[in-house]
Amino acid sequence: MNQFPAIVALSILCMACGKQTEPRNDTEQTDKKWWKEAIIYQIYPRSFSDSNGDGIGDLRGIISKLDYVKSLGATVVWLNPIYSSPNADNGYDVSDYRDIMTDFGSMTDFDLLLSEMHKRGLKLVMDIVVNHSSDEHEWFKQSRSSRDNPYRGYYHWWPAEKGKPNYRYSLFDENGDAWKYDSLTDAYYLHYFAQKQPDLNWENPKVRQEVYDIMKFWAEKGVDGFRLDAFQFAAKDTTFPAFPKGFEQNFIQYYAMQDDLHSYLKEMNEQVFSKYDVMSVAEGAGRTLQEAHDLVDSDRNEINMAYAFEGVDIAKPQGYDLLHFKEVFSKWDSAFAKKGWLSIFLANHDQARLVSRFGNDSPEYRVSSAKMLNTFILSMRGTPYCYYGDELGMTNIGFENVEQYRDIAAINGYKKVVNQGGDVRKYLSNLKFSSRDNGRTPMQWDASENAGFTTGTPWLPVNENHTTINVALEENNPNSVLYHFRKLTYLRHNNPVLVYGQYKLLQKEHPSIYAYTREWEGVKVLVLLNFKAEKASIELADANRIEQTLIDNYEEVDIQGNIFSLKPYQAVIFKIKRE
Ligand code: GLC
Ligand code: CA
Repeated sequence: MNQFPAIVALSILCMACGKQTEPRNDTEQTDKKWWKEAIIYQIYPRSFSDSNGDGIGDLRGIISKLDYVKSLGATVVWLNPIYSSPNADNGYDVSDYRDIMTDFGSMTDFDLLLSEMHKRGLKLVMDIVVNHSSDEHEWFKQSRSSRDNPYRGYYHWWPAEKGKPNYRYSLFDENGDAWKYDSLTDAYYLHYFAQKQPDLNWENPKVRQEVYDIMKFWAEKGVDGFRLDAFQFAAKDTTFPAFPKGFEQNFIQYYAMQDDLHSYLKEMNEQVFSKYDVMSVAEGAGRTLQEAHDLVDSDRNEINMAYAFEGVDIAKPQGYDLLHFKEVFSKWDSAFAKKGWLSIFLANHDQARLVSRFGNDSPEYRVSSAKMLNTFILSMRGTPYCYYGDELGMTNIGFENVEQYRDIAAINGYKKVVNQGGDVRKYLSNLKFSSRDNGRTPMQWDASENAGFTTGTPWLPVNENHTTINVALEENNPNSVLYHFRKLTYLRHNNPVLVYGQYKLLQKEHPSIYAYTREWEGVKVLVLLNFKAEKASIELADANRIEQTLIDNYEEVDIQGNIFSLKPYQAVIFKIKRE
């Protein structure tokens, strides 16, 4: 909070006058923008729908499902990378930024996808992966070929005659080392991720210009936004000073938001974002609230919305603390209460499944807890992101053996534990809960052998529970997670208070219920979410001011006097008469 003296001052003022803060309409939050009103649906192309039976999802598959996407009430699709790639990290290793991965189709398919989306009023956000490229990108092939090649400076090289460079931690390397020795030119190159993902040198203006030109190429085609992958790591101190021993335990402090990162974003904004009607979001939001705020302060002309990890990182195999969860989401909301804008999400392609991590995927509570979590995501301030399958309540597949994994992070992480003589069993048991592959199993369309995803052999196994959790069944069941999701998106589109309304946490110490109000332009709603598998009650003065129940994942709520009694994972939104 110390970084936000203005906000602290405001709340002290209100405490002193003893009045509740009136929703302020003189803030930037009331500036209407399509990307604030958006509901983003994230599609992992490899796993969504396979049109040609090779077991891999593709663009034609996505095209065939656009009516479904539209029916969800989503307005924007974020597609994970679809560019040419040798697939060391499922497309996050790009070998040609202006072409489509052959597994996914062709540029003709892409053009058709975009026009079919626009026809339906859907917008498309592309994933821009430019902290690094693939080692098979032409730039890198040139760069590594000789020390005086014109592309040498596109990457970070350390000549071996200077000795071993200072240690840098790699997230995906099987030894954890981000420097890879290359005998061809007797030098090391830097890779924060896998060896096949060399980091681009953002300090080189030529690299930056190449990237802006690539982004313009897609913007000219008509795409509606960009998600900047791992971008907070892009700027680096190219003298590569020594970091303290053990820094890798806390590497974000050393890697994120270095030196000129903000100036690169300003430059990107000037050259790309400001010239098109596009939204922009960067993965990661720096080390502090102030850094996150600086990214999205509209006066600074950088990006539109922050995508911060503190919330999604709370879930652990042993569970999580609801009070901490409330505290984190409330802290982030208050830091952006007047300016800037947030993304709201609890899952993506780098996480295990929403209901398995944050809810309860037992047969008894899967449906109610998935609905409760979707109610949370779609009733907070900030742009909500739904990861494909979470609208059905898809669950973790929970692999037992290392051979079952396809994700480089899981496979190389395993090798690292083996290399370092670590606890392999513990690693596998954590992985079973948290692996990214849990969130990447094929979309469950129906109860047929491969869930209607493919007629071939799926690249990653389909979850066996697709016979009971799938689109076809849920379409026919008004009590399904899918039906509830559609009701929620409908509500959000028709109640601007859910988009723009001021957020206020109630009873922050309540151990089971997350309660908050949203208030905007004379409209107030109360959200009550029971995060636990036991009944819980809460006493609130608002009980006698209920005007209408907007949505409830059970038939009704028990209200006696001022006491609301909620069933396990019950989630309700009420419209409240204002005082
Ligand atoms: C981001 C992506 C992740 C990828 C990594 C390297 O974190 O979300 O999927 O593996 O960057 O590109
Ligand atoms: Ca295919």
